[in-house]
Amino acid sequence: MVQQKRSQWASNLGFILAAAGSAVGLGNIWKFPGKVGAGGGGAFLLCYVVIVALIGFPIMLAELSVGRRTQKNMVGAFRSLNPKWAFAGKIGLVTLFVIMSYYSVVGGWVLKYIWVYLTGGDFGTGATVYQDYFTDFITDPGEPLLWGLVFLVMTIFVVVKGVSKGIEKVSKVLMPCLFLLLVGICIRAVTLPGASEGLKFMFTVKMEDFNGDTWVMALGQAFFSLSVGMGILVTYGSYVPKEENLVKSAAWICVLDTGVAFLAALAIIPVVFVTLGADGLGMGGGFAFMALPEVFAGFAGGKIFGLVFFLLLFLAALTSAISILESCVAFLTEEFHMSRLKASILLAVPMSLLSAGYSLSQSEARGINLPWFDFTNGFQMLPMNAVMEKFTDNLMIPVGALCFCLFVGWSWKTTQAVREIENDGAKPFPLRGLWSVMMKYIAPVVIILILFFTIGKGEGLS
Ligand code: TRP
Repeated sequence: MVQQKRSQWASNLGFILAAAGSAVGLGNIWKFPGKVGAGGGGAFLLCYVVIVALIGFPIMLAELSVGRRTQKNMVGAFRSLNPKWAFAGKIGLVTLFVIMSYYSVVGGWVLKYIWVYLTGGDFGTGATVYQDYFTDFITDPGEPLLWGLVFLVMTIFVVVKGVSKGIEKVSKVLMPCLFLLLVGICIRAVTLPGASEGLKFMFTVKMEDFNGDTWVMALGQAFFSLSVGMGILVTYGSYVPKEENLVKSAAWICVLDTGVAFLAALAIIPVVFVTLGADGLGMGGGFAFMALPEVFAGFAGGKIFGLVFFLLLFLAALTSAISILESCVAFLTEEFHMSRLKASILLAVPMSLLSAGYSLSQSEARGINLPWFDFTNGFQMLPMNAVMEKFTDNLMIPVGALCFCLFVGWSWKTTQAVREIENDGAKPFPLRGLWSVMMKYIAPVVIILILFFTIGKGEGLS
Protein backbone atom coordinates (compact mmCIF):
# COMPACT_ATOMS: atom_id res chain seq x y z
CA MET A 1 0.00 0.00 0.00
CA VAL A 2 1.29 3.42 -0.84
CA GLN A 3 1.91 5.42 2.31
CA GLN A 4 0.15 8.71 1.80
CA LYS A 5 2.00 11.77 2.99
CA ARG A 6 -0.01 13.25 5.84
CA SER A 7 -1.35 16.72 5.15
CA GLN A 8 0.18 19.65 6.96
CA TRP A 9 -0.89 23.21 7.47
CA ALA A 10 0.70 25.47 4.86
CA SER A 11 1.60 28.13 7.43
CA ASN A 12 1.51 28.52 11.17
CA LEU A 13 -0.81 31.49 10.87
CA GLY A 14 -3.11 29.28 8.81
CA PHE A 15 -3.07 26.64 11.53
CA ILE A 16 -3.77 29.14 14.29
CA LEU A 17 -6.66 30.66 12.36
CA ALA A 18 -8.08 27.25 11.43
CA ALA A 19 -7.91 26.10 15.04
CA ALA A 20 -9.40 29.43 16.07
CA GLY A 21 -12.04 28.76 13.39
CA SER A 22 -12.93 25.54 15.20
CA ALA A 23 -12.85 27.28 18.56
CA VAL A 24 -14.74 30.42 17.58
CA GLY A 25 -18.27 29.37 16.89
CA LEU A 26 -21.73 29.48 18.31
CA GLY A 27 -20.19 28.91 21.73
CA ASN A 28 -18.68 32.39 21.69
CA ILE A 29 -21.55 34.37 20.28
CA TRP A 30 -24.63 32.36 21.11
CA LYS A 31 -23.71 30.74 24.43
CA PHE A 32 -21.16 33.00 26.10
CA PRO A 33 -23.17 36.22 26.58
CA GLY A 34 -26.07 34.21 28.00
CA LYS A 35 -23.78 32.55 30.50
CA VAL A 36 -22.29 35.88 31.53
CA GLY A 37 -25.86 36.92 32.25
CA ALA A 38 -26.67 33.77 34.19
CA GLY A 39 -23.37 33.80 36.08
CA GLY A 40 -23.79 37.29 37.50
CA GLY A 41 -21.56 39.23 35.08
CA GLY A 42 -18.13 40.10 36.43
CA ALA A 43 -17.80 37.02 38.63
CA PHE A 44 -18.38 34.72 35.69
CA LEU A 45 -15.90 36.64 33.52
CA LEU A 46 -13.21 36.27 36.18
CA CYS A 47 -13.87 32.55 36.71
CA TYR A 48 -13.82 32.11 32.95
CA VAL A 49 -10.46 33.78 32.40
CA VAL A 50 -8.90 31.86 35.30
CA ILE A 51 -10.13 28.56 33.89
CA VAL A 52 -9.00 29.32 30.35
CA ALA A 53 -5.51 30.31 31.50
CA LEU A 54 -4.90 27.67 34.15
CA ILE A 55 -6.82 24.68 32.83
CA GLY A 56 -7.98 25.21 29.22
CA PHE A 57 -4.62 26.33 27.87
CA PRO A 58 -2.58 23.47 29.43
CA ILE A 59 -5.07 20.88 28.17
CA MET A 60 -5.05 22.41 24.71
CA LEU A 61 -1.27 22.09 24.68
CA ALA A 62 -1.53 18.46 25.78
CA GLU A 63 -4.00 17.65 23.02
CA LEU A 64 -1.88 19.32 20.36
CA SER A 65 1.20 17.43 21.53
CA VAL A 66 -0.60 14.06 21.44
CA GLY A 67 -1.75 14.82 17.90
CA ARG A 68 1.63 15.95 16.63
CA ARG A 69 3.41 13.00 18.19
CA THR A 70 1.06 10.28 16.91
CA GLN A 71 -0.06 11.86 13.62
CA LYS A 72 -3.43 10.19 14.10
CA ASN A 73 -7.14 10.79 14.75
CA MET A 74 -8.39 10.86 18.32
CA VAL A 75 -9.08 7.16 18.91
CA GLY A 76 -6.04 6.04 16.92
CA ALA A 77 -3.85 8.50 18.80
CA PHE A 78 -4.79 7.16 22.23
CA ARG A 79 -4.55 3.62 20.99
CA SER A 80 -1.07 4.05 19.57
CA LEU A 81 0.28 5.52 22.80
CA ASN A 82 -1.59 3.17 25.14
CA PRO A 83 -4.34 0.86 23.82
CA LYS A 84 -6.09 0.80 27.19
CA TRP A 85 -6.94 4.45 26.72
CA ALA A 86 -8.77 4.15 23.40
CA PHE A 87 -12.02 4.50 25.37
CA ALA A 88 -11.15 8.16 26.04
CA GLY A 89 -11.23 8.87 22.33
CA LYS A 90 -14.60 7.13 22.11
CA ILE A 91 -16.05 9.28 24.90
CA GLY A 92 -15.03 12.25 22.81
CA LEU A 93 -16.76 10.84 19.76
CA VAL A 94 -20.08 10.29 21.51
CA THR A 95 -19.98 13.79 22.92
CA LEU A 96 -19.17 15.31 19.55
CA PHE A 97 -22.12 13.43 18.11
CA VAL A 98 -24.50 15.03 20.60
CA ILE A 99 -22.94 18.48 20.17
CA MET A 100 -23.29 18.24 16.42
CA SER A 101 -26.95 17.35 16.79
CA TYR A 102 -27.83 20.60 18.47
CA TYR A 103 -25.15 22.64 16.75
CA SER A 104 -26.94 22.02 13.48
CA VAL A 105 -30.26 23.19 14.90
CA VAL A 106 -28.80 26.48 16.07
CA GLY A 107 -26.86 26.72 12.80
CA GLY A 108 -30.26 26.42 11.15
CA TRP A 109 -31.56 29.37 13.19
CA VAL A 110 -28.65 31.42 11.85
CA LEU A 111 -29.52 30.42 8.30
CA LYS A 112 -33.11 31.47 8.87
CA TYR A 113 -31.94 34.92 10.03
CA ILE A 114 -29.75 35.28 6.97
CA TRP A 115 -32.82 34.48 4.92
CA VAL A 116 -34.88 37.10 6.75
CA TYR A 117 -32.25 39.76 6.08
CA LEU A 118 -31.89 38.71 2.46
CA THR A 119 -35.61 39.10 1.98
CA GLY A 120 -35.82 42.60 3.43
CA GLY A 121 -35.20 42.20 7.15
CA ASP A 122 -38.82 42.52 8.18
CA PHE A 123 -39.39 41.28 11.73
CA GLY A 124 -42.79 42.92 12.16
CA THR A 125 -43.75 45.65 14.61
CA GLY A 126 -44.44 46.01 18.30
CA ALA A 127 -42.55 46.63 21.52
CA THR A 128 -41.01 43.19 21.88
CA VAL A 129 -41.04 42.25 18.24
CA TYR A 130 -37.55 40.76 18.05
CA GLN A 131 -38.17 38.56 21.04
CA ASP A 132 -41.53 37.43 19.75
CA TYR A 133 -40.16 36.72 16.31
CA PHE A 134 -37.41 34.51 17.65
CA THR A 135 -39.64 32.68 20.10
CA ASP A 136 -42.30 32.07 17.49
CA PHE A 137 -39.73 30.77 15.07
CA ILE A 138 -37.87 28.34 17.32
CA THR A 139 -41.02 26.99 18.87
CA ASP A 140 -42.55 26.22 15.50
CA PRO A 141 -42.60 22.44 15.21
CA GLY A 142 -41.68 22.39 11.51
CA GLU A 143 -39.61 25.24 10.13
CA PRO A 144 -36.54 25.06 12.41
CA LEU A 145 -36.24 21.35 11.62
CA LEU A 146 -35.89 22.16 7.95
CA TRP A 147 -33.29 24.89 8.47
CA GLY A 148 -31.34 22.60 10.78
CA LEU A 149 -31.32 19.93 8.13
CA VAL A 150 -30.06 22.43 5.56
CA PHE A 151 -27.19 23.33 7.90
CA LEU A 152 -26.34 19.66 8.49
CA VAL A 153 -26.39 18.93 4.77
CA MET A 154 -24.09 21.90 4.10
CA THR A 155 -21.66 20.66 6.72
CA ILE A 156 -21.76 17.15 5.27
CA PHE A 157 -21.24 18.55 1.80
CA VAL A 158 -18.00 20.22 2.83
CA VAL A 159 -16.80 17.27 4.91
CA VAL A 160 -17.48 14.78 2.12
CA LYS A 161 -15.49 16.91 -0.28
CA GLY A 162 -12.60 16.93 2.16
CA VAL A 163 -11.53 20.45 2.89
CA SER A 164 -8.17 20.23 4.57
CA LYS A 165 -6.84 22.85 2.19
CA GLY A 166 -10.12 24.72 2.09
CA ILE A 167 -10.51 25.11 5.86
CA GLU A 168 -7.19 26.87 6.23
CA LYS A 169 -7.71 29.23 3.33
CA VAL A 170 -11.25 30.09 4.29
CA SER A 171 -10.38 30.65 7.95
CA LYS A 172 -7.62 33.06 7.02
CA VAL A 173 -10.14 35.36 5.37
CA LEU A 174 -13.14 34.83 7.59
CA MET A 175 -11.67 35.09 11.03
CA PRO A 176 -10.27 38.62 10.60
CA CYS A 177 -13.56 39.72 9.00
CA LEU A 178 -15.57 38.34 11.91
CA PHE A 179 -13.29 40.09 14.35
CA LEU A 180 -13.52 43.47 12.64
CA LEU A 181 -17.27 43.26 12.34
CA LEU A 182 -17.67 42.35 15.95
CA VAL A 183 -15.52 45.32 16.99
CA GLY A 184 -17.74 47.56 14.88
CA ILE A 185 -20.90 46.20 16.49
CA CYS A 186 -19.37 46.56 19.96
CA ILE A 187 -18.57 50.21 19.40
CA ARG A 188 -22.16 50.77 18.38
CA ALA A 189 -23.50 48.78 21.35
CA VAL A 190 -21.45 50.43 24.08
CA THR A 191 -22.22 53.91 22.82
CA LEU A 192 -25.98 53.41 22.91
CA PRO A 193 -27.68 55.68 25.43
CA GLY A 194 -28.15 53.66 28.61
CA ALA A 195 -25.49 51.09 27.73
CA SER A 196 -23.61 51.85 30.91
CA GLU A 197 -26.06 49.75 32.95
CA GLY A 198 -25.07 46.67 31.01
CA LEU A 199 -21.39 47.52 31.22
CA LYS A 200 -21.72 47.97 34.95
CA PHE A 201 -23.33 44.56 35.21
CA MET A 202 -20.57 42.98 33.16
CA PHE A 203 -17.72 44.47 35.09
CA THR A 204 -19.06 44.48 38.62
CA VAL A 205 -17.86 41.50 40.58
CA LYS A 206 -20.27 40.43 43.28
CA MET A 207 -18.73 38.08 45.81
CA GLU A 208 -21.89 36.04 46.24
CA ASP A 209 -21.70 35.01 42.59
CA PHE A 210 -18.49 33.04 43.15
CA ASN A 211 -20.37 29.87 43.84
CA GLY A 212 -20.16 26.33 42.56
CA ASP A 213 -22.70 26.97 39.82
CA THR A 214 -20.61 29.77 38.39
CA TRP A 215 -17.46 27.63 38.36
CA VAL A 216 -19.24 24.66 36.78
CA MET A 217 -20.66 26.90 34.11
CA ALA A 218 -17.32 28.62 33.47
CA LEU A 219 -15.51 25.30 33.16
CA GLY A 220 -18.06 23.78 30.78
CA GLN A 221 -18.20 26.94 28.71
CA ALA A 222 -14.40 27.36 28.53
CA PHE A 223 -13.86 23.79 27.36
CA PHE A 224 -16.70 24.00 24.85
CA SER A 225 -15.49 27.31 23.50
CA LEU A 226 -11.85 26.26 23.20
CA SER A 227 -12.92 22.95 21.58
CA VAL A 228 -10.79 21.06 24.11
CA GLY A 229 -11.39 17.71 25.75
CA MET A 230 -12.92 16.07 22.71
CA GLY A 231 -9.84 15.29 20.65
CA ILE A 232 -10.47 17.84 17.90
CA LEU A 233 -7.14 19.44 18.66
CA VAL A 234 -5.45 16.06 18.41
CA THR A 235 -6.51 15.95 14.78
CA TYR A 236 -5.57 19.58 14.14
CA GLY A 237 -2.27 19.08 16.02
CA SER A 238 -1.44 16.11 13.83
CA TYR A 239 -1.15 18.47 10.85
CA VAL A 240 1.30 20.83 12.57
CA PRO A 241 4.91 20.62 11.35
CA LYS A 242 7.53 19.70 13.96
CA GLU A 243 9.35 23.00 13.80
CA GLU A 244 6.35 25.10 14.83
CA ASN A 245 6.04 26.38 18.38
CA LEU A 246 3.03 24.67 19.95
CA VAL A 247 3.06 26.80 23.10
CA LYS A 248 2.76 30.06 21.21
CA SER A 249 0.10 28.65 18.91
CA ALA A 250 -2.00 27.37 21.80
CA ALA A 251 -1.68 30.72 23.56
CA TRP A 252 -2.85 32.54 20.43
CA ILE A 253 -5.83 30.23 19.98
CA CYS A 254 -6.88 30.85 23.60
CA VAL A 255 -6.46 34.61 23.28
CA LEU A 256 -8.39 34.83 20.02
CA ASP A 257 -11.20 32.63 21.25
CA THR A 258 -11.57 34.46 24.55
CA GLY A 259 -11.26 37.83 22.81
CA VAL A 260 -14.13 37.02 20.48
CA ALA A 261 -16.27 35.76 23.37
CA PHE A 262 -15.68 39.00 25.33
CA LEU A 263 -16.46 41.11 22.28
CA ALA A 264 -19.67 39.18 21.76
CA ALA A 265 -20.70 39.81 25.36
CA LEU A 266 -19.82 43.50 24.98
CA ALA A 267 -21.90 43.68 21.83
CA ILE A 268 -24.92 41.99 23.29
CA ILE A 269 -25.27 42.63 27.03
CA PRO A 270 -25.48 46.46 26.93
CA VAL A 271 -28.17 46.17 24.28
CA VAL A 272 -30.15 43.76 26.40
CA PHE A 273 -30.06 46.27 29.24
CA VAL A 274 -31.07 49.15 26.98
CA THR A 275 -33.97 47.31 25.41
CA LEU A 276 -35.20 44.96 28.11
CA GLY A 277 -33.45 45.87 31.33
CA ALA A 278 -31.94 43.32 33.69
CA ASP A 279 -34.90 40.97 33.15
CA GLY A 280 -33.70 40.44 29.60
CA LEU A 281 -30.79 38.43 30.95
CA GLY A 282 -33.20 35.58 31.41
CA MET A 283 -33.19 35.18 27.63
CA GLY A 284 -30.30 32.77 27.84
CA GLY A 285 -29.16 31.44 24.52
CA GLY A 286 -31.33 33.72 22.46
CA PHE A 287 -29.28 36.87 23.07
CA ALA A 288 -27.69 37.06 19.65
CA PHE A 289 -30.96 36.43 17.90
CA MET A 290 -33.14 38.76 19.92
CA ALA A 291 -30.84 41.61 20.87
CA LEU A 292 -28.71 42.15 17.79
CA PRO A 293 -31.45 42.60 15.18
CA GLU A 294 -32.75 45.38 17.39
CA VAL A 295 -29.37 47.13 17.30
CA PHE A 296 -29.14 46.70 13.57
CA ALA A 297 -32.60 48.19 13.09
CA GLY A 298 -31.50 51.28 14.99
CA PHE A 299 -29.11 52.80 12.47
CA ALA A 300 -28.82 53.55 8.78
CA GLY A 301 -27.58 50.58 6.79
CA GLY A 302 -28.22 48.40 9.80
CA LYS A 303 -29.94 45.74 7.76
CA ILE A 304 -26.81 45.20 5.71
CA PHE A 305 -24.89 44.97 8.96
CA GLY A 306 -27.38 42.40 10.17
CA LEU A 307 -27.02 40.33 7.04
CA VAL A 308 -23.23 40.40 7.20
CA PHE A 309 -23.22 39.62 10.90
CA PHE A 310 -25.41 36.54 10.54
CA LEU A 311 -23.43 35.45 7.49
CA LEU A 312 -20.24 35.57 9.51
CA LEU A 313 -21.92 33.86 12.45
CA PHE A 314 -22.96 31.18 10.01
CA LEU A 315 -19.43 30.77 8.69
CA ALA A 316 -17.99 30.70 12.23
CA ALA A 317 -20.54 28.02 13.07
CA LEU A 318 -19.81 26.14 9.88
CA THR A 319 -16.03 25.95 10.47
CA SER A 320 -16.73 24.63 13.98
CA ALA A 321 -19.35 22.16 12.75
CA ILE A 322 -16.95 20.92 10.09
CA SER A 323 -14.31 20.24 12.74
CA ILE A 324 -16.85 18.33 14.83
CA LEU A 325 -18.30 16.22 12.03
CA GLU A 326 -14.89 15.68 10.47
CA SER A 327 -13.61 14.04 13.67
CA CYS A 328 -16.51 11.58 13.72
CA VAL A 329 -16.17 10.87 10.00
CA ALA A 330 -12.38 10.45 10.26
CA PHE A 331 -12.92 7.83 12.95
CA LEU A 332 -15.36 5.83 10.82
CA THR A 333 -13.30 6.07 7.65
CA GLU A 334 -10.10 5.06 9.40
CA GLU A 335 -11.43 2.37 11.69
CA PHE A 336 -14.06 0.83 9.44
CA HIS A 337 -12.61 1.70 6.06
CA MET A 338 -15.77 3.27 4.73
CA SER A 339 -15.98 6.16 2.32
CA ARG A 340 -16.44 9.68 3.63
CA LEU A 341 -19.88 9.83 2.02
CA LYS A 342 -21.05 6.61 3.62
CA ALA A 343 -19.67 7.64 7.01
CA SER A 344 -21.39 11.03 6.79
CA ILE A 345 -24.75 9.55 5.87
CA LEU A 346 -24.46 6.91 8.57
CA LEU A 347 -23.90 9.68 11.11
CA ALA A 348 -26.43 12.09 9.66
CA VAL A 349 -29.48 9.88 10.16
CA PRO A 350 -29.28 9.47 13.97
CA MET A 351 -27.95 13.03 14.23
CA SER A 352 -31.07 14.35 12.48
CA LEU A 353 -33.31 12.42 14.85
CA LEU A 354 -31.54 13.85 17.86
CA SER A 355 -31.68 17.30 16.25
CA ALA A 356 -35.41 16.91 15.83
CA GLY A 357 -35.72 16.11 19.53
CA TYR A 358 -33.71 19.21 20.41
CA SER A 359 -35.75 21.41 18.14
CA LEU A 360 -39.13 20.04 19.13
CA SER A 361 -38.37 20.34 22.82
CA GLN A 362 -38.18 24.13 22.29
CA SER A 363 -41.84 23.97 21.41
CA GLU A 364 -42.62 21.75 24.37
CA ALA A 365 -40.78 24.06 26.72
CA ARG A 366 -43.03 26.89 25.68
CA GLY A 367 -46.20 24.96 26.16
CA ILE A 368 -46.94 24.03 22.57
CA ASN A 369 -48.45 20.62 22.99
CA LEU A 370 -46.98 17.89 20.84
CA PRO A 371 -48.67 14.77 22.14
CA TRP A 372 -46.31 12.47 20.22
CA PHE A 373 -43.32 14.19 21.72
CA ASP A 374 -44.12 14.65 25.32
CA PHE A 375 -40.81 14.73 27.12
CA THR A 376 -41.46 17.51 29.56
CA ASN A 377 -44.71 16.27 30.97
CA GLY A 378 -44.40 12.57 30.40
CA PHE A 379 -41.11 12.07 32.18
CA GLN A 380 -41.24 14.96 34.56
CA MET A 381 -37.82 16.06 33.45
CA LEU A 382 -36.19 18.96 31.78
CA PRO A 383 -36.82 19.66 28.16
CA MET A 384 -34.51 17.68 25.97
CA ASN A 385 -32.69 20.76 24.65
CA ALA A 386 -31.51 21.72 28.14
CA VAL A 387 -30.62 18.12 28.92
CA MET A 388 -28.49 17.82 25.79
CA GLU A 389 -26.59 21.03 26.45
CA LYS A 390 -26.00 20.26 30.09
CA PHE A 391 -25.01 16.68 29.35
CA THR A 392 -22.26 17.85 26.99
CA ASP A 393 -21.13 21.07 28.69
CA ASN A 394 -21.31 20.09 32.32
CA LEU A 395 -20.59 16.39 32.19
CA MET A 396 -19.09 14.89 29.04
CA ILE A 397 -16.68 17.66 28.05
CA PRO A 398 -15.17 17.87 31.57
CA VAL A 399 -14.93 14.06 31.66
CA GLY A 400 -13.16 14.08 28.28
CA ALA A 401 -10.76 16.78 29.46
CA LEU A 402 -10.12 14.83 32.67
CA CYS A 403 -9.18 11.82 30.57
CA PHE A 404 -6.64 13.95 28.73
CA CYS A 405 -5.10 15.19 31.97
CA LEU A 406 -4.85 11.71 33.45
CA PHE A 407 -3.61 10.19 30.24
CA VAL A 408 -0.91 12.78 29.55
CA GLY A 409 -0.03 13.22 33.22
CA TRP A 410 0.12 9.61 34.32
CA SER A 411 0.10 7.22 31.37
CA TRP A 412 2.00 8.81 28.49
CA LYS A 413 3.82 11.04 31.02
CA THR A 414 4.38 14.77 30.85
CA THR A 415 8.11 14.29 30.15
CA GLN A 416 7.18 12.67 26.83
CA ALA A 417 4.73 15.44 26.07
CA VAL A 418 7.31 18.08 26.93
CA ARG A 419 9.76 16.45 24.54
CA GLU A 420 7.16 16.75 21.80
CA ILE A 421 6.23 20.32 22.73
CA GLU A 422 9.90 21.34 22.80
CA ASN A 423 10.64 19.38 19.65
CA ASP A 424 13.51 17.64 21.45
CA GLY A 425 14.92 20.80 22.94
CA ALA A 426 14.74 22.97 19.81
CA LYS A 427 11.94 25.12 21.25
CA PRO A 428 12.49 25.43 25.01
CA PHE A 429 9.29 25.63 27.08
CA PRO A 430 10.29 27.55 30.21
CA LEU A 431 7.04 26.81 32.04
CA ARG A 432 7.27 23.05 31.55
CA GLY A 433 7.55 22.34 35.29
CA LEU A 434 4.45 24.37 36.05
CA TRP A 435 2.63 22.87 33.09
CA SER A 436 3.38 19.33 34.31
CA VAL A 437 2.04 20.14 37.77
CA MET A 438 -1.12 21.60 36.24
CA MET A 439 -1.68 18.53 34.09
CA LYS A 440 -0.90 15.93 36.74
CA TYR A 441 -2.47 17.42 39.82
CA ILE A 442 -4.25 20.74 39.65
CA ALA A 443 -6.36 20.41 36.50
CA PRO A 444 -7.62 16.89 37.36
CA VAL A 445 -8.42 17.90 40.93
CA VAL A 446 -10.30 21.01 39.80
CA ILE A 447 -12.24 19.05 37.19
CA ILE A 448 -13.08 16.27 39.65
CA LEU A 449 -14.22 18.80 42.25
CA ILE A 450 -16.43 20.51 39.76
CA LEU A 451 -17.81 17.21 38.47
CA PHE A 452 -18.43 16.13 42.03
CA PHE A 453 -20.32 19.31 42.61
CA THR A 454 -22.34 18.82 39.43
CA ILE A 455 -23.21 15.19 39.94
CA GLY A 456 -23.09 15.10 43.73
CA LYS A 457 -25.60 17.89 44.13
CA GLY A 458 -27.49 16.89 41.06
CA GLU A 459 -27.06 20.47 39.93
CA GLY A 460 -25.74 21.50 36.60
CA LEU A 461 -27.48 18.53 35.09
CA SER A 462 -31.02 19.14 36.18
N1 TRP B 1 -15.73 25.62 20.06
C1 TRP B 1 -16.87 25.70 19.21
C2 TRP B 1 -17.75 26.84 19.65
O1 TRP B 1 -17.38 27.61 20.48
C3 TRP B 1 -17.66 24.43 19.17
C4 TRP B 1 -16.80 23.24 18.97
C5 TRP B 1 -16.10 22.93 17.85
C6 TRP B 1 -16.54 22.26 19.92
N2 TRP B 1 -15.40 21.80 18.07
C7 TRP B 1 -15.65 21.37 19.32
C8 TRP B 1 -16.96 22.06 21.20
C9 TRP B 1 -15.16 20.29 20.04
C10 TRP B 1 -16.47 20.97 21.92
C11 TRP B 1 -15.58 20.10 21.35
O2 TRP B 1 -18.83 27.00 19.18
